[in-house]
Amino acid sequence: MNLNLQTHAAVSVAAATAPPFLQLHAIGKHFGPYQVLHEVSFEMEQGQVLAIIGPSGSGKSTLLRCINQLEPPSSGRISMAGLQIDAQRPPKHAELVQLRRRIGMVFQSFNLFPHLTVLRNVSLAQVRTLGRSPAEADRVSMQLLERVGLADKAGHYPARCSGGQQQRIAIARALALEPQLMLFDEPTSALDPELGLEVLAVMKELARDGMSMIVVTHEMHFAETVSDRVLVMAEGRIIEQGASQTVMRHPQNERVVKFLQAVRNR
Ligand SMILES: Nc1ncnc2c1ncn2[C@@H]1O[C@H](COP(=O)(O)OP(=O)(O)O)[C@@H](O)[C@H]1O
Ligand SMILES: [Mg+2]
Repeated sequence: MNLNLQTHAAVSVAAATAPPFLQLHAIGKHFGPYQVLHEVSFEMEQGQVLAIIGPSGSGKSTLLRCINQLEPPSSGRISMAGLQIDAQRPPKHAELVQLRRRIGMVFQSFNLFPHLTVLRNVSLAQVRTLGRSPAEADRVSMQLLERVGLADKAGHYPARCSGGQQQRIAIARALALEPQLMLFDEPTSALDPELGLEVLAVMKELARDGMSMIVVTHEMHFAETVSDRVLVMAEGRIIEQGASQTVMRHPQNERVVKFLQAVRNR
């Protein structure tokens, strides 16, 4: 019995000393006098999928943009896999480059280049950012297009692809840079439901393959069944977070209960 307890204690000390894969500590953000994020703190482990839900205007996009420093946070600290960024001390250019290399982002709007073929869209940043040869980039791109089910579209222009296909191309483009973490900001909101399903299927597979993902979404089924944890935001604060089934089925906070009812009855 005693031995058991000691083993248990040793394990929890080891777990406590290993830094989490991603940690946000008291992230705040204001635009002029307007405070958009208030002391947002959370952690995630590598390979986890975190869904962020909450009403429009609650700061979800700003939070994602603070994580990859597209918006510099006004206060707080972010650490990711050994890299630390503290709002009090402006990060060096090299630190920003390192952080952004580790993080891929997919937006609601796909932002593909209309004048480039699908293949070139996926290959371009690999050549520019990773210094791959065009032939090597195209080889990687073809593998990724295969993975998102669009190898046959490689030679087409984005305008000839559906919205769901364009979003899957945008996912392939982000994956081509070999990120350690993928951020998705309402990736299906601009899509008809059945096209959204194609995109969600690709994301689900990515999650199954062990990609660390943070997904801002209104897809409650995805939040409940694919993500490990759900974080609910309102007015720039996390008002509830926990295991996805617990938060989605048995929310504690009255505002979360109302929000989930409203979304489900839509
Ligand atoms: N660049 C900006 N300048 C001023 N206000 C902004 C800016 N970006 C976002 N906001 C405001 O911050 C709040 C949170 O926005 P956002 O993060 O986009 O919320 P969500 O993604 O949850 O809808 C909103 O009130 C929005 O108007
Ligand atoms: Mg948003």
